[in-house]
Amino acid sequence: MKTIIEPFRIKTVEPIYFTTRAEREEVIKNAFYNPFFIRSKDILIDLLTDSGTSAMSSEQWAGMMRGDETYAGSTSFFHFEETVKRITSMPHIIPTHQGRASEKIFFSIIGGPGKYIVSNTLFDTTRANIEICETEGVDLLCDEGKIPAVPSDFKGNINLNALKEFIQQKGASNIPVCVLTVTNNSGGGQPVSMQNIRETSKICRANGILLVIDACRFAENAYFIKLREPGYANKSVEEIAREMFSYADASTMSAKKDAFANIGGFLALHDEALAVKCRNLLVVTEGFPTYGGLAGRDLEAIAIGLNEVMEEPYLQYRIRSTAYLSAKLSEAGIPVMQPPGGHAVYIDAKAFLPHIPVDQYPGQSLVCALYLEGGIRSCEIGSLMFGKYDDNGKLIPAQMELVRLAIPRRVYTQSHIDYVAEVILELFEKRESIQGMRIKEEAPILRHFTAKLLPYYGENLLVNYENMAEGNR
Ligand code: F0G
Repeated sequence: MKTIIEPFRIKTVEPIYFTTRAEREEVIKNAFYNPFFIRSKDILIDLLTDSGTSAMSSEQWAGMMRGDETYAGSTSFFHFEETVKRITSMPHIIPTHQGRASEKIFFSIIGGPGKYIVSNTLFDTTRANIEICETEGVDLLCDEGKIPAVPSDFKGNINLNALKEFIQQKGASNIPVCVLTVTNNSGGGQPVSMQNIRETSKICRANGILLVIDACRFAENAYFIKLREPGYANKSVEEIAREMFSYADASTMSAKKDAFANIGGFLALHDEALAVKCRNLLVVTEGFPTYGGLAGRDLEAIAIGLNEVMEEPYLQYRIRSTAYLSAKLSEAGIPVMQPPGGHAVYIDAKAFLPHIPVDQYPGQSLVCALYLEGGIRSCEIGSLMFGKYDDNGKLIPAQMELVRLAIPRRVYTQSHIDYVAEVILELFEKRESIQGMRIKEEAPILRHFTAKLLPYYGENLLVNYENMAEGNR
């Protein structure tokens, strides 16, 4: 087979910025060892997120010019609504400025004290929007999803037995919603199978629980189903996506991912009474129901992007480019989540840095070292993001310590990715010199965005342990 090439050519280019090692040392110190504080001009390759960072197509930019900025009844809204309705078959489509706005509206109506929301894995903002309503978010990921090194086709599946048991234990009336995140971002970008969606839906319907699809990366999930699940090889991605949504009662989506938009989202629902409540809240917090916090041009770009994302040459290139980076790393013995996910490669930081205990945040150490060594920005998805404290102030670590290298859509070429692999390989050679971190300051919720950290010992992140006093190692 020939090389799978980028299915586009480049029309507009944007500079990226080179820095010296000495400059990066200053930058990371001034950013309190938290890459969320680094300015883009100090970054060479930005793999912090695939959210809002896509390159839009010439068609999308043309759509931006056509955007109808009418306050109520914009043509762009109807274009957007028609597209989302076609894919989800849900009659009520509510635009929002991004995914978490959909979550905020939905969960503040459906949640409440004493209730539980179950999921394969809730993303951090989803969990935060649930917890802020004094509702408990419960992740019931399948067992294979929790072991990074062991490959399996659908590691994003929810554990159906655990779901049934949980319902029995807590009572269906205390569980208003089950969320399936497709693909499972916090669990390695792993897909959920159609069979798992179908069976989850059956359990939910039998118990009066609403099934919600967090659809940020629905097209990538649908493509994995096409590649891996028997019976789907000859179906189009759109047919598969439509079937996925057919099992759900509602969907939240951040259009910043699988719609190639820089901003935007939606909430799609079947239930009219619930939709009315959501729209009422939307008018207060986001805007009138035909724009919901977005400009007409954004609605237009999303409508076009949702169609482009389901094109197979694009998805083939997308999934292949992630697998390409993953293969380069694993061939060199670097522990990565297996198999690679759709939008990102996840390094297992616990295995990469086994000498750093989880309460010294090995994921964050690796994130900072990657920036120092190569100007690459990545994101910790581990105990800094999801850790909690017990009553004695001791860290309750996250299930996994991952570092996510998220690949923005249609942005970087193969040579950028080759460079990323080279930096990681070099760092792997000297991994024993990387030390842990401690938190100096943190917020009570979503702490990873603003936490300030320091190397555990002394000033430098890369230390010479050999010269250190025994007690300090
Ligand atoms: N759900 C999932 C699965 C997500 O990955 C995100 C965002 C959201 C909801 C919230 O959407 O950002 O538009 O409000 N994920 C980004 C990321 C931020 O980097 O993975 P949003």
